[in-house]
Parts: sequence; structure tokens; C-alpha cells
Amino acid sequence: MNVKLLSGALGAEISGINLKDSSKENYERINNLLLEHKVIFFRNQDITHQEQIALAQNWGPLENHAYVKGLDKYPEIVRIIKTREEKNQWGENWHTDVSYNVKPTKAVILKSIKIPPVGGDTCFSNMELAWETLDEEIKEKIKNKKAIHSSLGAEFFIDNYKGMSGHEQRNYDEYSNEHPIVRTHPETGKKILYVNWTYTKKIIGLDKNESDEILKKIFEHQARLDLTCRFNWTENAVAMWDNRSVIHYAIADFYPGRGLGYERIMDRIAIEGDQPN
Ligand SMILES: [Fe+2]
Repeated sequence: MNVKLLSGALGAEISGINLKDSSKENYERINNLLLEHKVIFFRNQDITHQEQIALAQNWGPLENHAYVKGLDKYPEIVRIIKTREEKNQWGENWHTDVSYNVKPTKAVILKSIKIPPVGGDTCFSNMELAWETLDEEIKEKIKNKKAIHSSLGAEFFIDNYKGMSGHEQRNYDEYSNEHPIVRTHPETGKKILYVNWTYTKKIIGLDKNESDEILKKIFEHQARLDLTCRFNWTENAVAMWDNRSVIHYAIADFYPGRGLGYERIMDRIAIEGDQPN
């Protein structure tokens, strides 16, 4: 096995592990790598839908997305499609997946199916480091507070993306849940800064102006490039991230004459997490 670190902050590209092997031993090796590096990447992994599902089930029950319909035969797999002429793509701003749920996703296994010749990298940012390096005054203000996370409703996930479709019985309603701003990782015990630009709307117990001002500073801090790594996709690559301790950003740099004009297709499986505390 070879481990190539992607940046000084987080992320590693792993070679010498076969993801078709969903044994307990392989799971433990991968989970240790995941906890250490927070996001890990594997190339040339030609795994089937069943193999991707079997691998993911090692971490626990799989999630179905509240708004987005999965594949007909495999509802646990959401196919993320950016059509050729679309500039925008799913997941194109800083977020952690489904933080608006009572139990947000533990981890995601994302496999690339079709990748444009240029554009569409994914960035990840380390939220343990973000907490450690956050301004002390802000830390003091938020350390025992909770924030409201909004699901934004079905339109946000479907209507702006031609390739994405909702469940047959479409539920459009927005809903929200509150989570501690600083959560403790259930496996490592580390503190994690658990808010994100996309879904976190307000700090509970502060008036709106103060909440907006602090959240703005936190979001800027979380996006500092020295907390991040960036993955350049190839087809049949697999990314797996610890959705508790990173935020991520699918870069939509599909501009005419360069990145525009190509499809980008990914298969996503999410594993259920715990209630943050
Ligand atoms: Fe995402």
C-alpha cells in the first residue's frame, strides 16, 4: 500500500488497496486511513454498483436522499449528472452533506463515471484544523452554542440541475434542525467546527446581525486555502470522505472554450451518521 499526501492539511491518495474487497480487514484498513486523512482517494477502481454498496455497508446503514431520486435498481445510489452545456453542478459551494438532518451523513463514497478533460475538481477543508486555528474571541462566543441548518427544499437540489430528478412523490418542503457549532468526533474525540456556508443559517441565542457577522467570519476562515486539499478526478476514481470532519466544494469551472461542453457523472452513496454532540 502507498499513501501520497495531497496537501499539508488533509487528504491522501491511496494505491494498493482493492475496493472490490469488502471484507472486515479491508474495511478496517480503509477506515483507519479515513480517520487519519479525513478524505481519501483511489484511482482505477472499476467497481460495480453492488460492490460500491457492499463496501459502503461496512460503515453502517445507507441513506436515501430526502429530495433526490436514486437509481431505479439501486435507490441508495444517487447519480450526480452535469449535462454538457450546464455551467453549474451539484455541490458547487462549501458544505457538509445533509447537515440539516437530525443525523447527518457519516461518510460518502463517490465514484466517478464520466469526467471532463478539464474542470470539476473537488476541494475539501479540514474542520478539525479550522476549529484549532479559529480566532480565540470567536471560539469563546460560539463554543457552547447551537446553529440552525436548513434543508433549503427540493428546488435547491433539483430545479437548477437538468440531470437531477426528485422522488416520484415529491416533497418540496424545507425543514431544519439544530446542531452544536463545535461537535466532538465520535471515533477520534477531536473537536470539529460544524457549520457550513450552504446550510447553516443562524446561531441560536444571538441576534440576527451578530449571528450573520460571526458566521461570515467563520465561513471565510473555513475556506482558507491552507486548510484545504484539491482532488483532480479521473474516470473510475473513488473519493471517500469523513463527512463529520470536512466540508467540501465541487468546483463548477465549466467556462466556454475550456471546461464547458462535457458531461460529468458521479455515483454517490452516503452512510448514516450519529446525531452531532
Ligand atoms: Fe456534497
